[in-house]
This record gives sequence, structure tokens and C-alpha cells, in this order.
Amino acid sequence: MRDLLRSGRVRLRDEIVTDPALHLTEEQAGELTLDGEPVTASRYLYFCLYKPDQCLTAMTDDRLPCVGDYLPSELKTKKISPVGRLDYHTTGVLLLTNDGELSHRLTSPKWHQKKVYLVTYSGEALTDREVALFAKGMTLTEAGHAPEKLKSAELILLSDQQCRLVLTEGKTHQVKRMLAATGRSVIALHRESMGPLTLHEGQKPGEMYPLTPDEILALKAGTELN
Ligand code: URA
Repeated sequence: MRDLLRSGRVRLRDEIVTDPALHLTEEQAGELTLDGEPVTASRYLYFCLYKPDQCLTAMTDDRLPCVGDYLPSELKTKKISPVGRLDYHTTGVLLLTNDGELSHRLTSPKWHQKKVYLVTYSGEALTDREVALFAKGMTLTEAGHAPEKLKSAELILLSDQQCRLVLTEGKTHQVKRMLAATGRSVIALHRESMGPLTLHEGQKPGEMYPLTPDEILALKAGTELN
């Protein structure tokens, strides 16, 4: 927040606000803008992190780099945590928030969120056969596990080694397991979007941005929260 204030992007009416200790009335708080867009005062915080490669989806870890390392120190006491999980090597969109109800709904099968992954894989190029297989909802049959029926998924073929996969559920390692079931291996996995959330133009791995009021509303609308 201090960095945002220092950057001069926050205004109260026409005045730039730089003092983090400034006390605002409720009415004034309603008039704050960030880059000209209204900032609503909320007890909850929402950020979209570009999760980098080699990073655990955890707030702390004794041994390995984790998502919590990217949170500015003044936010470390705010009980913020990641919504859902990306694997250690998976990059891309990861929502961080302390809004427990929204977090619960976004990960619940009841309000399944569309997630779009860019997949780089090895093995034979995927074909229309797999497009049809994924579309009808495949069943994973893995040694030592009960068969698992998956929902319909959209597979878009991009090149001999790349595809885009659109899922509406979030089973553990789902993309890798779906590709493995067709005899391919995932080499790199990048989440392009989760529900209405995407990375902002120019956002780099490890950078996060606070969600705009519109982005928060769109996320809530997708889980019937207001
Ligand atoms: N599917 C996977 O296999 N890994 C992820 O990180 C996300 C989806």
C-alpha cells in the first residue's frame, strides 16, 4: 500500500494522497480513486499474483520459495492465502485473498470456475480424437485409484507441442493426469485465467496487483455473492 501511495496513483477527488496515516471519513473513503477508478473500502483484500515457476502454493515454507514470499511485509499479518493450488512448476494466475467465503465458493464444485491453461507437452501431437475424448468427459483410470469421471473439458490444439485446456473443475494435478491418460507428459503449465481474472498486460512473474472493484464484483457474481 505504501508503494501505491508513493506512486501518486491514489487520489481523493483531485488531490494525490501519499500519507498512509491519513484518516478518512467514510464519505471520503468512498471518493478515493486508483488510476481514476473508484476504490471501495473493504475489510477484505484481493490480489492477483503471477505465480512464478519453482514456487510452492503456500504462505510459508522452511525450505522452498513460496507464494507468501511475494506478499509485501505490511500484508503478512492480514491472513491472506491463495485460493486453490498450482503445482510448484505451474505459472500464472493465482488469486490471494483473506475473504474466506469467496475463497470457499471459488474452490467449491458448486460454483465451478472456468480455468484456462496453456499446456506445453511432449509426445505425439494431440489430435481431434483427444478433443472429442475430453469434450465428452473422460474417465481417469489410474493404478491404485478408483476410476474418476471428469467433466467435459475444451481442448484447443495450438501446435504439435502446445494446447489450451479449459477446465471447469480443479482436481489435483488434473491437467497432468489428463495428458498422462493420453500418453503425453506436461513440460510446462501456465494458467492464463481463473473465472474473470487474467494477468494484466506487462505483469511479470512474482508481481501482483490489487483487484479493481469491478474485478472483485465479477468474481463474486460468478459465485452468487454480492
Ligand atoms: N493441473 C495440474 O496438473 N497442475 C496445476 O498446477 C494445475 C492444474
